[in-house]
Formats: sequence, structure tokens, C-alpha cells
Amino acid sequence: MAKGPGFKCAACGATASKWAGQCDSCKAWNTLSETGALSTGPSKTLGGKRGNLIDLGDLATQDPAPPRTVSGVTELDRVLGGGLVTASALLVGGDPGIGKSTLLLQAAARFARGGLKTIYVSGEEARAQVRLRADRLGLTESPVLLASETNLRDILTTLDQEKPDLVVIDSIQTMWADHIDAAPGSVSQVRATAHELTNFAKRRNVAMIMVGHVTKDGQIAGPRVVEHMVDTVLYFEGERGHQFRLLRAVKNRFGPADEIGVFEMTGKGLVEVKNPSALFLSERGQSTPGSVVFSGIEGTRPVLCEFQALVAPSPHAQARRSVVGWDGSRLAMILAVLESRCGVPFSGLDVYLNVAGGMRVNEPAADLAVAAALLSARVDKALPQDGVLFGEISLSGALRPVSQADNRLKEAQKLGFQSALIPAAKAKSMPQDMNISQYETLAEFVGATFGPIDA
Ligand code: TYD
Ligand code: MG
Repeated sequence: MAKGPGFKCAACGATASKWAGQCDSCKAWNTLSETGALSTGPSKTLGGKRGNLIDLGDLATQDPAPPRTVSGVTELDRVLGGGLVTASALLVGGDPGIGKSTLLLQAAARFARGGLKTIYVSGEEARAQVRLRADRLGLTESPVLLASETNLRDILTTLDQEKPDLVVIDSIQTMWADHIDAAPGSVSQVRATAHELTNFAKRRNVAMIMVGHVTKDGQIAGPRVVEHMVDTVLYFEGERGHQFRLLRAVKNRFGPADEIGVFEMTGKGLVEVKNPSALFLSERGQSTPGSVVFSGIEGTRPVLCEFQALVAPSPHAQARRSVVGWDGSRLAMILAVLESRCGVPFSGLDVYLNVAGGMRVNEPAADLAVAAALLSARVDKALPQDGVLFGEISLSGALRPVSQADNRLKEAQKLGFQSALIPAAKAKSMPQDMNISQYETLAEFVGATFGPIDA
């Protein structure tokens, strides 16, 4: 069987059977180095120790649900799935400058005040800088222990002696394990340090929160591998120009993923936003063509937000399609369905779509809101100010019902909306005093809402 030396890229961790000047997978130059044989022969791993097996039924009685600590910051606790689990590793990713250090210092202070022994290790800022930030946040009285350190060996020794309950590592890219021959922030370093820290968390019953910077294309710099190692991955996101920040759970072994927490960045740090819908709609003015309100579900709760579209004749041979806060290929699909199933062409027109307030929507349930915003902009006719929409559009032009219709409607009603345009479905409990129009197909919706449209 073929057996030869293997090569590994120091930048992205990809393996190759042949040496090359450039890594095939990340295109970095001079990063491949030999790692020893990539064995394809018979397994050499037999001959180990027999492991313990336990019956699934017994497990429930022997290992009860993991203990949790709540911080008291509802938005954070909900994203964590009901509080912080002891003996767990978390990764908090986000763009530089978005507010990760601020969030975690505030969270650390809350947990410390709640009785957890908390250590905040900053590899990026000197202790004086962290102290300045704590001053600004009004947290100087909190019993958080600070360390400004990057050497993993020293950090683990300190943690070993101090026996904390919660450790924040800010950031994983600045940490450095001296037994790995690579620069801090490189894949091998990040992987090794994250692995050691995760192991430490499990062995010593510590909650370990690691901060990771995200590159421009939305990846945690270099290592996706860290995401597989840890129990929970949270992303902290938001637009620079906006005050809103969303904490989103993308993976959670101890709770629901896709849950969001909403914060506002103020001069005194992050403040929870208890009613995000009101915030996302607060800048909404008079009803204008191209603006519609979508009643969405984020995690377990309904969140309303505004979709805005602009459609204008294109000066270019190739018309522009520009999207912020929604999926670009989904927009292309909706334009195609409008064109072929409803006879409304968009060729020769530039199309801009934006979700107001820096919100990002991932639900297909927003299809109908997107279509309505596009049509409203195209025919220059505003939809009623007090209406919301939701519904998924299929390629055949049919409108598909979406989950939690009743919750979406109830939230809209709570915020003062009186009408809704939705797919036809036998909903269990529609709000009684709301004016609800239901449609089987997109063409039916277009006809009823906008009348005949000239091609
Ligand atoms: P920071 O937490 O340092 O971001 P990260 O750790 O993700 O790189 O936050 C940086 C930004 O937040 C900075 O531009 C200043 C702003 N900020 C406030 O607006 N209010 C505050 O109270 C604090 C501490 C920071
Ligand atoms: Mg920081």
C-alpha cells in the first residue's frame, strides 16, 4: 500500500501528499512542511486499553444536567441557553473593535459579583488599559482578577494554582504555546492553545471563554478547527456605524443555536435591549415605497425588522444587485420568480436591498417581505404603514406557510401593527382583531396588493 511523507500547511492546516511552493487550499506560499508519513496501510492503533462503556439509561441518573450560573444579563444568559455551564469551553468571535472585550469584561464582572472566581487574561492590552476600560464601565469594584499574559505555559500554571471558576482569554490569537514552532495567531498556535485551554476547562471544571478575531470573510482567523473543539460558539456582530450589537449563538452543545441577544453600545459600555423590534423599527418614518416590515423569528423569540428596497434604471450594461443583511443568491431567486411567475421583469434595473438597523436576516420566511419591498419600490407604491409580512416563496411561485405564524402575528400586534399579508394556512390561533390577508401564490399577492404591473 502507498506510504510516503506527508506535508502540512502552517497557515491553514491542510495536508498534501506532495510538496509544493504554494498551498493548494489557502494559496499561501512556502507554508508546507513535512510531517512524517501519511499512513494508508493497515491500522497501527490496535493494542490500546479497553474503555468504559455505560448504558444510556444509567447515564441520565449518574450525570445530571450540567450546572449553570446565570449572569443576570438576560440577553447573554438566553444566548448561552440559560446561563453559563461550568466545565465548558466557549468561543466568542467578532470583528476587531466590535466590542468583544467590552462585553466579556462586563460579563466577567457580573459573574464575579455573582460569586464565581473570575480571571480575565488579556494578551492584547496592558493591565492599565483594562483598568481604564473597567473605570469607564464603572466596574472597578468588581472582584475580577486581571492578568496581562500571552505565554500559555505561564497562564496554565497560574490557573492551576488559582483554581478559578471562570476564565476569559482575550484573545486566542495572541496566545502562544512555546512548544509549537510558529508565530502567535498562526493555525498551529491557535489550534494548540485552544486545545490545551479546552482540555483544562474540562479537567478542572472551569468555564473557559476564548475571544477570537474574525477575518473579513467572516472566518475566525485561520482555524475553523477551534469551532469544532469548543462547546459553544457565539458571534458578536453589528455594523460599525450603528449602535446595535447582536450576540448570536451559532453552535451550542448546551442549548439552542440561532438564539440572539441584542445590545446597544453606549458611552458606558453595552446595555441590553429588551425589546429589539421596537429598536429596529424606531428609525422608521412615514410609509415610503420600498419599505416593508417583516415579522421574523430569531432563536426562540419574534423580532420585527424593516426591509428597504430601491429599484432604479441602470446606467450599466450589467444591472447591479446589492444586498446588505440578507442572502444575495436568495434575492436573485426572488427576482427570477417575480419575473417568470408574475411577469414583472427587473432587467435593466439596479436593485438595492437593505435590512435596516444593521440586522442580518437568515430566514426564508422573509421571502415575501423581500418580494413586497422590491415590488413596492418598482411600482413606487407604499404598502400600508401598519402592516407586516412573512412567508416563504417557492420556485413555482407558490407561497409556503412558515413556522410560528401565531407568534409572529402576536408580536406585530403588540407593537401596534393592525394588518398582515401572509401565506394561506390553517393557523391555530390567529389574533382576532387583526386584519389578515392570506394568499396561495405570489402572483395572487401581487395582483391583490399592487394591481396590474406594466412590464
Ligand atoms: P472593544 O471591546 O475593545 O472591541 P474588541 O475587543 O471587539 O476589539 O470595543 C471597542 C469599541 O467600543 C471602541 O471603538 C470604543 C467602543 N466603546 C464604547 O463605545 N463604549 C465603551 O464604554 C467602551 C468600553 C468601548
Ligand atoms: Mg479586544
